[in-house]
Amino acid sequence: MQNNTFSTLFVGQNLINLLAVDSTNNFLKNLLSKSEPLPEGTVIMAEDQFAGRGQQQNSWHAEPGKNLTFSLFLKPTFLPLNQQFLLNMAISIAINNALSVYLPKGLSIKWPNDIYFNHQKLGGVLIENAIMGNTIKNAIIGIGLNINQPTFPEELSTKATSLYQILQENVNLHKLLAEICSQIESLYLQLKANNYTLLMQNYVDKLYKINETSLFRQNGEVFEGMITGVTTTGLLNVVRDNETSQYNFKEIEFLNSK
Ligand code: BTN
Repeated sequence: MQNNTFSTLFVGQNLINLLAVDSTNNFLKNLLSKSEPLPEGTVIMAEDQFAGRGQQQNSWHAEPGKNLTFSLFLKPTFLPLNQQFLLNMAISIAINNALSVYLPKGLSIKWPNDIYFNHQKLGGVLIENAIMGNTIKNAIIGIGLNINQPTFPEELSTKATSLYQILQENVNLHKLLAEICSQIESLYLQLKANNYTLLMQNYVDKLYKINETSLFRQNGEVFEGMITGVTTTGLLNVVRDNETSQYNFKEIEFLNSK
């Protein structure tokens, strides 16, 4: 177990810092498949993640040494399978809370768990759960945040942003990681204590474009609708022509309109 200065009980207390790795999620998955037990709260961080993975088989781009790319190991065995989205909620709220110290305005969570500043993506979360029976045995929480990266490849330049682009100054990566770990621990303990209602309210309050008319696409059809909330199972509630429908991640596409 490696020691560090984080003021948490367990999240980030075992911190493994890698110079280069394909993906911190892959590294953590391999570590878990070995017989030695790994302490809950272990964080694998990489300076250079050269084959990072994103949602929906996308890749995750991060300039070496300038960003936060890390994976956290949790054991949310107390969470029934049909409520696993609550973990996504807790993690995205925690990241938002930690970043709000640097960005008091403009942060939001784009459903399901993209971290947004105004209309651009500041970070993303890839949670990979190992299921046993009706519970989540292991959760690998992969987090990628654009921090001190000054520019992005052309195809990302209008969609992505970084703390550096917003603040015009560098942020200490280790300090920010400590703040995120502390927030995650507090939200995770809230989840463990069954404080679901508060958590859901907090998540919905932070949702990008909540209660605003927006454009969506479903099966090739573009329509106007309004996000009004989410269900505990993570479905998005969208009101269209005075009727509420529920969508899962793959069913609906949010069209970026400012
Ligand atoms: C997304 O598509 O928005 C999710 C991005 C998740 C990226 C992080 S970086 C650390 C961890 N390791 C990976 O390979 N992916 C996640």
